[in-house]
Amino acid sequence: MFPLYVTGTDTGIGKTLSSCALLHALRAGGLRAIGMKPVASGCMRVDGEWRNEDALALQAAGEAGIAYVDVNPFALEHPLAPELAARDAGIEVELPPILAAHARLAARADAVVMEGVGGWAAPLSATLTQADLVHALRLPVVLVVGLRLGCLSHALLSARAIAADGVQLAGWIASHVDPAMERVEDNIVMLRERLPAPCWGVLPHAPGVDPALLARHLRIPERV
Ligand SMILES: Nc1ncnc2c1ncn2[C@@H]1O[C@H](COP(=O)(O)OP(=O)(O)OP(=O)(O)O)[C@@H](O)[C@H]1O
Ligand SMILES: [Mg+2]
Repeated sequence: MFPLYVTGTDTGIGKTLSSCALLHALRAGGLRAIGMKPVASGCMRVDGEWRNEDALALQAAGEAGIAYVDVNPFALEHPLAPELAARDAGIEVELPPILAAHARLAARADAVVMEGVGGWAAPLSATLTQADLVHALRLPVVLVVGLRLGCLSHALLSARAIAADGVQLAGWIASHVDPAMERVEDNIVMLRERLPAPCWGVLPHAPGVDPALLARHLRIPERV
């Protein structure tokens, strides 16, 4: 199994895009890869069920025939911090349903790519951190760095926090989310020099592009 946990320097910086590109890259390499967004806040009603955009994108990028509830066991209506969205919905986000869904996916896959929420320190609930989930499943972490002004500090703080939580940072991916960012190449060099893990690739600024086309920008190590 090739399990991964995808975190990021912030919310809205390219975790879903990178996770989908990772799924396509893994599948192009011959692996059965499935995406997962265990906790998603911000959902719409589709045929009476809550559905989240990220989870749907991950479901579409992975192997066919996977049940939505296993991709996204906690679908919370309001686009808020999960703790608040869960409270509004009267739901308790807990580890066991996530672990059970992950096990069902892992039974059908060679790789499960799990997207986290927001940045690394964003809590999953009042009592559950993303580090708890990552520890429970022994997942290596990939950090997506959204390339924009301020990303150096966000990236280095994230890497420090991941290490402080006793979690392995397996690699990082840069996503050129802000087309107005200046000196992008220089920033990538500085990130390469300072982040304590290899760069798996740089996703160019490509609004609206099919993530399958971005897979070729990634070099995933054979094992993590
Ligand atoms: N390299 C890129 N080129 C163009 N647009 C990008 C790029 N990376 C991210 N974006 C855009 O930025 C927005 C946020 O990206 P994405 O949804 O992947 O972020 P996220 O980190 O998963 O956010 P969230 O915290 O909400 O899950 C999307 O509209 C996405 O298409
Ligand atoms: Mg996302």
